[in-house]
Amino acid sequence: MTKTVSGFSKFTKKEKINWLTKTFFADADAAKKTLKKYWNEDTQLQQLHDEFIENTISNFYLPYGVAPNFIINGKEYVIPMAVEESSVVAAASLVAKFWSTRGGFKARVLSTTKIGQVHFMYDGDLLTLENYFLEMKPKLLQATEAITKNMRKRGGGILDIELRNKTDKLTNYYQLHVTFETKDSMGANFINSCLEVIATAFRKDDIEIVMSILSNYIPECLVRAEVTCAIDQLGENGREFAKKFYRAIQIANVEPHRAVTHNKGIMNGIDAVVLATGNDFRAVEAGAHAYAAKDKQYKSLTNCSIDDHIFKFWIEIPLALGTVGGLTALHPLAKLSLELLQKPSAKELMQIVAVAGLAQNFAALRALVTTGIQEGHMKMHLHNILNQLGASENEKEQLIEHFKKRPVTHNAVVETFEKVKNKRG
Ligand code: MEV
Repeated sequence: MTKTVSGFSKFTKKEKINWLTKTFFADADAAKKTLKKYWNEDTQLQQLHDEFIENTISNFYLPYGVAPNFIINGKEYVIPMAVEESSVVAAASLVAKFWSTRGGFKARVLSTTKIGQVHFMYDGDLLTLENYFLEMKPKLLQATEAITKNMRKRGGGILDIELRNKTDKLTNYYQLHVTFETKDSMGANFINSCLEVIATAFRKDDIEIVMSILSNYIPECLVRAEVTCAIDQLGENGREFAKKFYRAIQIANVEPHRAVTHNKGIMNGIDAVVLATGNDFRAVEAGAHAYAAKDKQYKSLTNCSIDDHIFKFWIEIPLALGTVGGLTALHPLAKLSLELLQKPSAKELMQIVAVAGLAQNFAALRALVTTGIQEGHMKMHLHNILNQLGASENEKEQLIEHFKKRPVTHNAVVETFEKVKNKRG
């Protein structure tokens, strides 16, 4: 039987599911049941989700958790996180509590400039192009006036348009490099609309427009978050701990294999909040990793210093986030997240998200340079293993008690579960 299909997007949801389950599943009814189990009873809400994308056949759940006790610039927050990895919310909560008694987190936005580019090819004289650009620049701005009007009212808009010569990298390649301030919106649609209008106005016979698109590399949309305390406030072996922690960051700064994992841990915290607030985590990921490689070597996004017995730990990361428009206004849980965060501006959200990343990295490094990561991870993972094994609530309680003082490994859990189950049988 053929596994290709034409006109699929025109099928009704039921027809799509019928075709898929008949074509790809040994037990079509079971597959249908699973898909339907995740439909929302509230048909309006389901329709809202259906219409986010094309060919929606069900919803894919992620746990939505909260990490309380964050203090950022003296203000108390409970941070919402959408994430499947078992230790992330627990780690964030622990670290929030830890730093809440040591002055909390300090964060500030360093810059908010976003970037978009019109990429084009031109085979003529450079001076002629430069003159054409200078003559066109006010007209390009004028052409966007209708679409920038509201943004300008909010204090944003196009900051500048530059002609950039890239012919040393690629023959005949030039750009219009456009900078934007998008205030509380992430601004992707706004930027792309402006760029397309600019490209149309700039086009002429000897200019071949290739494409117009925002850049997710935004090294000037930057936020910094930090924690600091005297090293003896770090715990019993504060000095030893601080030294090892510092070493861990030094290693990430010279060893890309480690740096990627180190930054992945940071993104555990960042993505979870970005997702919970209806923002674009792929944009944030791409931009963060490009920033980590800005010095021609992929490095840690966090840094640490120990001076005069003072431990300081900070992150600097580019974040393009919005608190108005897009999914933030459409997804009921994204809206709820923003209300839980006390309706932050985009700048405040940048600070909160950076703090979530810093906290997550603190938790990971603290575990790595002391007990190792597996102890905490496996304790959290125990619940997942028990669910996979189909343990009853009573069996779960017994096994959790049993593993309180024993190392959790997959085998050990299975073996102990079998024993407990046999007793039951
Ligand atoms: C796991 O999701 C994240 C860590 O590997 C991060 C790190 O190693 O720093 C624990």
